[in-house]
Amino acid sequence: MSEEKDYFESVGAVFSNKDLLRIETIPESDSRIIGREKQLTDLASELGSAMNGQKPNNVFIFGKPGVGKSMCSKYLLRQLVGRGADNGISIGVAYVDCMQNSTETQVIVTAGESINDREQTNVYFPSGGVSRSRLYDRLWDAFDQLYDVGIIILDEIDKLEDPNETLGTLSRAGESEKLDSCQLGLVGISNKARFEQRLGSEVKSSLTQNELVFPPYDAKELLEILKARQDAFTESVLDEDADHVFATAAKFAAKEYGDARQAIDLLRKAGEIAEREGAQTLQTGHVEQALDKAEEDKLVKMMQTQPVQSKYVMQAVALTARHAPTGEVVKSHDVYAKYEQLTEYENVDINTLSWRRVRDLLDELEDLDVLQQQRKGAGKGKGTYRAVYLTDSPETVLRACENVE
Ligand SMILES: Nc1ncnc2c1ncn2[C@@H]1O[C@H](COP(=O)(O)OP(=O)(O)OP(=O)(O)O)[C@@H](O)[C@H]1O
Ligand SMILES: [Mg+2]
Repeated sequence: MSEEKDYFESVGAVFSNKDLLRIETIPESDSRIIGREKQLTDLASELGSAMNGQKPNNVFIFGKPGVGKSMCSKYLLRQLVGRGADNGISIGVAYVDCMQNSTETQVIVTAGESINDREQTNVYFPSGGVSRSRLYDRLWDAFDQLYDVGIIILDEIDKLEDPNETLGTLSRAGESEKLDSCQLGLVGISNKARFEQRLGSEVKSSLTQNELVFPPYDAKELLEILKARQDAFTESVLDEDADHVFATAAKFAAKEYGDARQAIDLLRKAGEIAEREGAQTLQTGHVEQALDKAEEDKLVKMMQTQPVQSKYVMQAVALTARHAPTGEVVKSHDVYAKYEQLTEYENVDINTLSWRRVRDLLDELEDLDVLQQQRKGAGKGKGTYRAVYLTDSPETVLRACENVE
């Protein structure tokens, strides 16, 4: 009898606690949170009165994607709930992701469900058949019955369909005596600089009076963030090169603006590649492969939004670049010849566009930053030609093209 292949053999050889490299994991202690002491201290002082049963300030948190806004808010509110409980104060925190819940009704229902205990309150939140003002009444009723202080976190607040209406009602709840005894505070989070401009003056002053800014990280901070999670890996998979591996991921994520999500994702994906390869140790090559894969995914996503012809143009550029002798630039006319071959013979169901149309598509692709073009002189009296440079490697582009529907 042939021996059974163990498909799970390499599982567990690379990661000892992969959850540490999952974006949604909230660190269990301060030691894993780097460079956010000021923001956490500021947020604590805005919300701190909740610990004594008083109304917390409304806070607006702003910063680019991946700079720790959601994570720090959840981390700090968890601590606040604990500190309140120590003082005999019950604090109810409703977390609403407005990306998933963008209508006012969805916000009320999600907030209500997340703080409610139906057995105690006898209140419930159906998603249909009850008017919005009734739903609000239920929300206030649940907060009043269960908590001394309520805090509603509206994450990705810029995704709200009607921010003025929703925020107006929520921020007025305390003042208009909708709530009997519970004190309510709001925390709004956004990565869109222009969001505030959409707000009417009343809502704006009540929400954004206390604004906390989360700046991007530099490469050194990103490296510390990654190293503070290195116990995600088994000891044996990290050798003397490990610092270099972490630094490669950190440096890349710092290049654009300093996004911790990107750094952590990269490291997890590098580990997954090492695992799949059955590698003994994690190497910078794994990070580089993860990076290529991330670029490829980004390209696929971008190309999926483009007309199908763009895919053949990109493929033609990549094939021409791959066959060009080193040092030689890719000329747009060679690209067109390759494009004709691809559409006339290899993909017969695709129309072959004129050179003029292909040139327009090249310009559009340049606007999307997936390639650059330059006019060059072909030599004395020979006029000029267009040279085409791909942003990513031809191999990455070709793999991406294969994955575009
Ligand atoms: N200072 C930090 N220390 C440790 N980990 C961090 C830090 N900042 C961010 N992270 C991690 O980076 C990832 C992204 O952070 P988070 O989700 O909080 O970003 P965000 O600012 O809310 O971004 P977005 O605007 O895209 O929602 C999370 O896994 C988080 O744990
Ligand atoms: Mg977030």
